Amino acid sequence: MRILVVDDQAVARQFIEKILKGWGHTVYLAENGSKAWITLLSVTVDMIVTDWMMPEMNGLELCRKIRSAGFDKYIYIILVSARDTQQDIIRGLEVGVDDYITKPVNTEEFRARIEIGERIVGLEKKLHTRHAEIERNYYQTIQMFTNLIEVVDEELGGHCKRVAKLCLRLAKFYPDVAQEDLPVLEAAGLLHDIGMIGLPKEIVSKKRAEMNGDEKKLYMSHPVQGEIILKEIEFLKPISILVRSHHEQVNGRGYPDGLKGEEIPLLSRIISGASIYDSLVKKWKIPMEDIPGRLQQQRGYQLESDLIDYLLEINLENIHKEEEKNYYKITLDELKEGMVLTSNVRMKSGALVFPALTELTNHGIEKLNDYRKLDCIADTVCVYKFQPGQAGRKDENTIGINV
Ligand SMILES: [Fe+2]
Repeated sequence: MRILVVDDQAVARQFIEKILKGWGHTVYLAENGSKAWITLLSVTVDMIVTDWMMPEMNGLELCRKIRSAGFDKYIYIILVSARDTQQDIIRGLEVGVDDYITKPVNTEEFRARIEIGERIVGLEKKLHTRHAEIERNYYQTIQMFTNLIEVVDEELGGHCKRVAKLCLRLAKFYPDVAQEDLPVLEAAGLLHDIGMIGLPKEIVSKKRAEMNGDEKKLYMSHPVQGEIILKEIEFLKPISILVRSHHEQVNGRGYPDGLKGEEIPLLSRIISGASIYDSLVKKWKIPMEDIPGRLQQQRGYQLESDLIDYLLEINLENIHKEEEKNYYKITLDELKEGMVLTSNVRMKSGALVFPALTELTNHGIEKLNDYRKLDCIADTVCVYKFQPGQAGRKDENTIGINV
């Protein structure tokens, strides 16, 4: 083990150092709590053997500081002191000391105490490794499902990823959402529409009002289908519950269970808000300036008032971000003569069509559209809002683009 020995008396320090080294441990030394703390910031140790009474920072203060710092790795602490009343021992245990040994140190007793500590440090390490393994499996499983959604339906995959990000932004408005809820919320955002992967694309892209009875029934089965897919994996059960409820409405007219208001899990309500916002912007292409009106229609109907307010705030932030950007991402149909490309435009094969900073002519735009008809070029390009070198001044040619 790596053991830090803390004692203000050089003789005592060297005595313990010699014993511990003799038992095969690596030893670090510090002459008081403050020096020990500095050592801990640069060295990882398994155990600390510390004196109680020391100048600057005593053993109890050091222990308290270590416990409240919440190091990732547990440090086993043995307090060594001439103080041995029951009250002294209780004081030590209260600040997080693991074991207590009285001075003068009896070598055999000391060895037994160190071995107890070593067993606990070993168990803690195993637990830590197992926990890391479980965590890795958890994230790999979520990643696998996320990839699956994206492979089956790229658009749906993009929606799920954006919803997960938006959920995390929304969560900041809710003091009731604890830090440890965030990974669950993010995963549920990523997987909320996994039940859609079996649905025909023509149904997914329709508005609810345009669906016939059977299509509506099929579409409305996706939260339950999602729950069925996820709940088989034990550690995804909490996520499956949120997925089931992401189409519930605060007025009780949602599905599948017709839950009302706070009967709907808070995290599901957040996913619902994020999903509605993303669909308005990306699927139905509502300009961000028109989003407030659309959101207000949902107040107290699909979404609760607070959530609407938070989405409005986020929408405003998004509008400001768009305004700050010096470029538009637009389709080839929206190109106009005089626009300037921000980056190279290449064919799907990689061949260069136009380099960055090319000012487009009508002939150039026609060329790009011809390539698109042959499906050898992407549908969108980025053009400057302002001519490069003239930041702050709008280029007349680009005004009026609806992004
Ligand atoms: Fe959904």
